[in-house]
Amino acid sequence: MKLGIITSGGDAPGMNAAIVAAARYARSRGIEMFGYVGGYRGVIEHKTVDLAKTSFRGALGRGGTLLYTDRCEEFLLREYRLQAYDNLRSDGVEGLVAVGGDGTFRGARDFFADTGLPIACVPATIDNDLGYTEFTIGFDTALNNVVNAVEAIKDTAESHGKVSFVEVMGRKCGNIALHSGVASGADFILVPERPFDFEELSKKAVEKLEAGHHSIIFIVAEGVGKVSEMSVRFKELTGITPRETSLGFIQRGGNPTYADRMLGVRMGATAVDLLAGGCGAVAVGVRGGEIFDTDLAGALGIPSDIDQTLYDLAPGIV
Ligand code: F6P
Repeated sequence: MKLGIITSGGDAPGMNAAIVAAARYARSRGIEMFGYVGGYRGVIEHKTVDLAKTSFRGALGRGGTLLYTDRCEEFLLREYRLQAYDNLRSDGVEGLVAVGGDGTFRGARDFFADTGLPIACVPATIDNDLGYTEFTIGFDTALNNVVNAVEAIKDTAESHGKVSFVEVMGRKCGNIALHSGVASGADFILVPERPFDFEELSKKAVEKLEAGHHSIIFIVAEGVGKVSEMSVRFKELTGITPRETSLGFIQRGGNPTYADRMLGVRMGATAVDLLAGGCGAVAVGVRGGEIFDTDLAGALGIPSDIDQTLYDLAPGIV
């Protein structure tokens, strides 16, 4: 048997662990594996790497993706998906492992509908915005990056008695903001999934300062808006000039944590197992520490939301 593997969409720490585990596990089962370079674009443009001849020494624990990645607009079009299928078939590939986020998964669903080629999706995005799985690969590392950065900002904010707005990634999802905000003891956490009254929060921030807090940290999910604009509004409301930091890509890079390596390894190998067992279009997930698989279209039908239990507890914790 021969399988293909891609990483697609935004890179996420732990993608390499998934690639290495999938390739090694496939090899151990006598399955050949081709990597396609640069996500779906690499399949369309037929850019391959024979993973049987690739050395993975040191790769498992590195951030980014050794297969490179892309957000491939062309794959939204059927003609390009059919081109990709022709290339896979000409290589003798009988199934594809697609490692990525929601865009990758939607591409995989459409590809399967067009071609019937078995495809096993592995969730990897720092955003943790796929509703069917408790965690995506890369989320834990991004959280550690954010928590470290916020603690550094806190040191200087506390020394100067400053109010700080910190913008974190997540696209339309507030999971990075919520989890990192709780873990770093931020004063206020703003997420796009839940309404908030900015005027009210600004008032509360001033009250906290008057009650003896020397600094204030707002963690703002990028889906809520720009911290630069929020700072201006905060000054209009309170007369206090805050500082703002947009953490940007520092969140997405760096060596994966143990949790993301393990998730990558377990999910990568599981995807190979599923394809070898004759699956259709499936998504691999994790819940309560257990790896599972489910129908891809069904998985995409489950909306993403923030962790409500944590959200409810947050006001009492932060
Ligand atoms: O999906 C991961 C992510 O880092 C989001 O949090 C962010 O909105 C987006 O990618 C940034 O995308 P790009 O790398 O295309 O600028």
